[in-house]
Amino acid sequence: MVYTEKDKRYKRYTVTSALPYANGPVHIGHLAGVYVPADVYARYLRSQGEEVVFIGGSDEHGVPITIKARKEGVTPQDIVDRYHGIIKESFRRLGISFDIYSRTSSPMHHETAAAFFKKLHDEGKFVEKVSQQYYDEEAGQFLADRYITGTCPRCGNEHAYGDQCEACGTSLNATDLVNPKSALSGAKPVLKETRHWFLPLDKDEPWLRQWILEAHKGDWKVNVYGQCKSWIDAGLQPRAVTRDLEWGVHVPLPDADGKVLYVWFDAPIGYISFTRELFGDDWEKWWKSDDSKLVHFIGKDNIVFHCIIFPSMLHADGSYILPANVPANEFLNLEGDKISTSRNWAVWLHEYLDEFPGKQDVLRYTLCSNAPETKDNDFTWKDFQLKNNSELVAILGNFVNRTLVLTHKFYGGQVPACGPLTAVEEEVVKELASFPERIGRSIETYRLREALAELMNLARLGNKYLTDTEPWKLAKSDPARTATVMNLSLQICANLAILCEPFLPFTAEKLSRMLGMEPQGWACAGTHTLLPEGHTIHQPELLFEQISDETIQAQVDKLLKTKEQNALDAWQPAAVKENVTIDDFGRMDIRVGTILECTKVPKADKLLQFRLDDGMGGRTIVSGIAKYYPEPEKLVGRQVCFIANFPPRKLKGVESQGMILSAEDKDGHLILLTPSDLAAPGCSIG
Ligand code: 2FM
Ligand code: ZN
Repeated sequence: MVYTEKDKRYKRYTVTSALPYANGPVHIGHLAGVYVPADVYARYLRSQGEEVVFIGGSDEHGVPITIKARKEGVTPQDIVDRYHGIIKESFRRLGISFDIYSRTSSPMHHETAAAFFKKLHDEGKFVEKVSQQYYDEEAGQFLADRYITGTCPRCGNEHAYGDQCEACGTSLNATDLVNPKSALSGAKPVLKETRHWFLPLDKDEPWLRQWILEAHKGDWKVNVYGQCKSWIDAGLQPRAVTRDLEWGVHVPLPDADGKVLYVWFDAPIGYISFTRELFGDDWEKWWKSDDSKLVHFIGKDNIVFHCIIFPSMLHADGSYILPANVPANEFLNLEGDKISTSRNWAVWLHEYLDEFPGKQDVLRYTLCSNAPETKDNDFTWKDFQLKNNSELVAILGNFVNRTLVLTHKFYGGQVPACGPLTAVEEEVVKELASFPERIGRSIETYRLREALAELMNLARLGNKYLTDTEPWKLAKSDPARTATVMNLSLQICANLAILCEPFLPFTAEKLSRMLGMEPQGWACAGTHTLLPEGHTIHQPELLFEQISDETIQAQVDKLLKTKEQNALDAWQPAAVKENVTIDDFGRMDIRVGTILECTKVPKADKLLQFRLDDGMGGRTIVSGIAKYYPEPEKLVGRQVCFIANFPPRKLKGVESQGMILSAEDKDGHLILLTPSDLAAPGCSIG
């Protein structure tokens, strides 16, 4: 049985997942927020025997892609070809079961998106307006979206983009930015008139208010509903759906050269064009039939586009269904810090798959059990290890392994007979019967963490049953009871094989293989008669393996390296100090000296004691540079620069007669300054 919003029955399910931009690989934040939940949902519906299409693909337009191409000196097509390939392959390896994973640069998509626009245009659904937009006179180009940066009028972030401030999440118009700057040339842009087509969202407000705030109150997630409410309450404004750019779907109108559809207009149409690509002429029922349920899986930054703008586009066309639900998730952080592509602060899926072969389900499990469903959450490698070792290995893996090993030991791998059940066993059977519905209800209401926790409770039930009945001891005294215990335990394993499939498809496959089970749907679960008496099971293999501290440390070290690299990249020279006069400078007596001796100062970790030939009989200088020159004797013979008229002072009992000059590098290291040619000791610098 499928429990649907407001008990409405649907015949088929159109499940979409946000199209990732093809300007970088996908990371765990994308997976936890969108792709793992969407995949669990789609797999579950299939297991329920429902008709499902699960749509995915790459979002290949938009300014970030052209900016990246420019930076690398390649074409936007080169960029999207590269990342579409990486993304598609890594999703496949993780078992994300798209029915199609296509791309918005495909001819079919261009044709579908252009036709969608043309129909709305011809039916007068847009408002055509000439407005002032920023233009870069040096680059000879209008500055759409991310081509312009400036200070966010809301939060003061100096690196806000023309379409959005990533610091406070506000959606912006380029003309809202304070101190706008071209991202192409750095020039101050000028305002120039240009003509565009706008979707008059202001006119949609009444039906949107009714549809979202009344009809979907209670069945849409609180975070989604709240964001929609604040958008609607703030008053919806007309939104431009075209841009002055070259890269994108060209506006299919005469006199529209150099204009493309706004990426957020064409990308969601991708869901439709990919369905067309998959089904040919038979695509419409997925999008135009009231008994199809449309569900968009997205991250919270996409809420307005999927709950307000795309529905307004579909509504303007008039022949489409609207989403029944948009279960948007919040964000996943990594080790306490926001995941960021530009700072390389991420766990990249393709790297994980290479570094943890055969452990796809461990990542799926960790991300699903930690999914940011109601608030932002944190991924840590320690937690990943704990979830693997203490949950997958110790609970699920342990139960299955104990059951299968004992079945081989006692019965040569044949399912023993189930005798009369005790009262406790009757309870176990009753509880077992309730799991498919419990897990299913949670999945259907998009509470996947809860659903996964229920699945683990079934494994816990099995473990407790084995521990309480102790068949390893019982075998000697009561063979008939032992057979019943092992039969029931095997039936729980078979149930786990069915019910874990949406979450852990690789484990489900392995477990089914070990149990000699054909794939079975959700409806078969809940009974204790899945494996008949005498059925042969195969040799057990471990479902999960411990992950060592060293493996985890290697990942933590990798992130530490990233942090160090980021600190170096963020380094900027110190601000220039206040001006000085030639006289100020002239008072400093800076000279060259040759190192005659150099030793560590006893009982002072940081200090080196230099004896310099200063051309005036020699002098001693103590310098706090020991950390950077661990072999001070090797400095002998080198020349340095020093301030000769620094008042003498005692450091750890040694009188220091001056100061040796050094430069502080990006990473804080001190570097001695040496003239590039040999200079006479004592000569002045000026
Ligand atoms: O935020 C993003 O990554 C967008 N590329 C999502 C697009 S979803 C859909 F509309 F195509
Ligand atoms: Zn801001």
